[in-house]
Amino acid sequence: MHWVITGANRGIGLALTKILLSEGEVVTVGVRTSMPFEHENLKILKVDTSNPVSIEEFVSQIDTPIDVLINNAGVLIEERFPNVTEEGMLLSFKVNTMGPYMLIQECYKKDKLKEGAKIVNISSILGSITNTGGTTSMPYSISKAALNMVTKLLAHKLKNMYVVSIHPGWVKTDMGGQEAPLLPEESATGIIKVIKNLNKSGIFIDYKGDTIQW
Ligand SMILES: NC(=O)c1ccc[n+]([C@@H]2O[C@H](COP(=O)([O-])OP(=O)(O)OC[C@H]3O[C@@H](n4cnc5c(N)ncnc54)[C@H](OP(=O)(O)O)[C@@H]3O)[C@@H](O)[C@H]2O)c1
Repeated sequence: MHWVITGANRGIGLALTKILLSEGEVVTVGVRTSMPFEHENLKILKVDTSNPVSIEEFVSQIDTPIDVLINNAGVLIEERFPNVTEEGMLLSFKVNTMGPYMLIQECYKKDKLKEGAKIVNISSILGSITNTGGTTSMPYSISKAALNMVTKLLAHKLKNMYVVSIHPGWVKTDMGGQEAPLLPEESATGIIKVIKNLNKSGIFIDYKGDTIQW
């Protein structure tokens, strides 16, 4: 299968890429800078997911039909009430919400997605409106809640595909911090299994496949 993953140079995206390649899958990654390794089944492309022009150029270079698209690139800007800035809010929205939407739309317009393709938006439980306790970065939670709406809206539009939001768990990465209980490899292994077994669209689940309230 051909998997496309953004933000794959570190953290969860890197773990996903390594595991998939070790299983013989073909992977195209979109990164801002470079990958820490090369592989015969790995195609490395540049993308800044906060920039629609860069997204267009990225999609134009994807030359194999896509089975799985994982919108993994994300930012956590630690801004809390009452100190949220316009800059923090807009950058979070661009990377966490607009980027995934534009990437899916562009792949659709350029006919890159296979019939039955699986489109995964890496969301967060911090974007769950039901679960929120209000003790989080405002731009992050707001942008991930909006990403969940992207999932729902596009699940309605792309009837012959699966569009889902997945919470990867609390993971030991630059974003998740050292206190996090899960290793990137554990989260990535779960996410891959969940994606392979996916048989429903428009859902919000975690890396174990358990449902999360929107
Ligand atoms: N870690 C957790 O506990 C946790 C929990 C819930 C959800 N998540 C979500 O899981 C995903 C991966 O997170 P992570 O923990 O692996 O974070 P991470 O270690 O901070 O990695 C973030 C990745 O996103 C890329 N990225 C950021 N902005 C980008 C842009 N404008 N264009 C292209 N790539 C960009 C980064 O690339 P650069 O190296 O170029 O910056 C990096 O590869 C994110 O969507 C995050 O919100 C994580």
